Amino acid sequence: MAEPVPVAWPPAPIRTERLVLRGSEAGDRAAFIDLFASPEVGTYIGGPRPREELEGAVPEVPGQRPGLFVATLDGAMIGMVTLDRRDAGRPGHGRPGGKVVGAAGLDAGEADLGYMFLPHVWGCGYAAEACAAALGWFAGAFPGEPVVLCTQTANDRAMRLAAKLGFTEVERFEEYGAQQWLGVRRSIPASG
Ligand SMILES: CC(C)(COP(=O)(O)OP(=O)(O)OC[C@H]1O[C@@H](n2cnc3c(N)ncnc32)[C@H](O)[C@@H]1OP(=O)(O)O)[C@@H](O)C(=O)NCCC(=O)NCCS
Repeated sequence: MAEPVPVAWPPAPIRTERLVLRGSEAGDRAAFIDLFASPEVGTYIGGPRPREELEGAVPEVPGQRPGLFVATLDGAMIGMVTLDRRDAGRPGHGRPGGKVVGAAGLDAGEADLGYMFLPHVWGCGYAAEACAAALGWFAGAFPGEPVVLCTQTANDRAMRLAAKLGFTEVERFEEYGAQQWLGVRRSIPASG
């Protein structure tokens, strides 16, 4: 998370039915470069970056920050799930007098879920499985906190995944020349 979360990071690896989520390692570097260089991955998130540029810029151990989970399948990185504190300056919430967001009870700095997976694993449910596990970790670390998610409305796969994970629409707005969708997933209060 942008402002380091007040929890130990990385947590112990999280096992799901098919995957392991963990903090990043040096061996993930090639997969990080593949992710950021992929035209398919970049379609709705600002486009791919040149591979040569990434080779020079990506650190030896990329993605070492609180809130960034690497998702692995059989030991190999297939994608990443992030939980960052949403920048209060971004549109979509926290505007002066922002009634929509105010009405929804969200505050600047809320946790923001992001996901990026390598195209060869799309359509297998891995992103959903990894995100559910990351959200489960978050709910344990920050009980009762909602999580938001922002994606272009044109990003069908990301929109379907958001719905599957239980995010519901807060508002739509224009940013980066495209329509964006802001959703929220509220924690379910413990019964009793
Ligand atoms: C967004 C993204 C992570 C979605 O990946 P995905 O693989 O489509 O997502 P899921 O894990 O939910 O998989 C869903 C598909 O797996 C299928 N599936 C197959 N086996 C499955 C299983 N065992 N369990 C669940 N779903 C399964 C589902 O039917 C669904 O198919 P559909 O897309 O045809 O409806 C991926 O497209 C991506 O990395 N995009 C680029 C980055 C990006 O734009 N990120 C969003 C920025 S906000």
